[in-house]
Amino acid sequence: MADNRPIGLFDSGIGGLSVLKEIKRLLPGESFVFLADQANIPYGAKTQRQLNELSERITRFLLTHDIKLLVVACNTATCYAIDHLRSTFIIPIVGVVPAIKPAANLTKEGKIAIMATPATAKSAYLKKLIKEFAPALNVFRIGCEGLEESVEYLKLKEIYRLLDLYLNKVKKTGSDVIVLGCTHYPFLKQEIKKRINGSNIRVIDSGRAIATRVKSILEDSTSFAKGNVQELYYTTADPRQFSKIASSLLKYRVIARKALI
Ligand code: DGL
Repeated sequence: MADNRPIGLFDSGIGGLSVLKEIKRLLPGESFVFLADQANIPYGAKTQRQLNELSERITRFLLTHDIKLLVVACNTATCYAIDHLRSTFIIPIVGVVPAIKPAANLTKEGKIAIMATPATAKSAYLKKLIKEFAPALNVFRIGCEGLEESVEYLKLKEIYRLLDLYLNKVKKTGSDVIVLGCTHYPFLKQEIKKRINGSNIRVIDSGRAIATRVKSILEDSTSFAKGNVQELYYTTADPRQFSKIASSLLKYRVIARKALI
């Protein structure tokens, strides 16, 4: 039987749209409710307790839309708050974490650079993933302070300055795989590729793998949607600003509403 309830997603900002894009590509028949907690960006500057509280409030808000599955479309919130969410709610929850496992399979040099928010870079969750999937490899965690905010507000000059800064650090490590460990960064893929042009460095993110995971969970419970597709967008800050940037990133018209969480 079809399950037409929407899939819920949240991030601190527009980064989660990079995950939404991949899920929509794989599951075009599904409906979505997306929330950007822009009033509280950057999540990288929040404590574990604050992230638990915010994530819980957002999940409760999304549940008022009767979501059938939650995607925490934010590496930082996943690293700090997913355990809390899983112990509080019974719906299936998919988190986004840096793609260490595929990176470990790809590297020939045995060196991987993870670009992430400073909070994700230093999280115990990430250390655990590295120990599990790349124990014998050199994994460099590069905390990219400010990069997600420059993407959030599409500050191009700042994006270029920070990319030069952090990619120089990456190059110094000799890594041949870069993992984009923040959902804001896939929107920078072309700029990153331009800057490493001519090298053998591969750039990967988690978007596709998350979409595949969502699909397999829905498959297991035979709960794909059938019928009208609906998309709802919310922000905890300024809906006009969000709509403008989301429309330019997704290349279709987004009209967001204000959410009080
Ligand atoms: N997109 C979020 C992530 O994947 C950014 C977190 C932040 O707001 O610092 O980590």
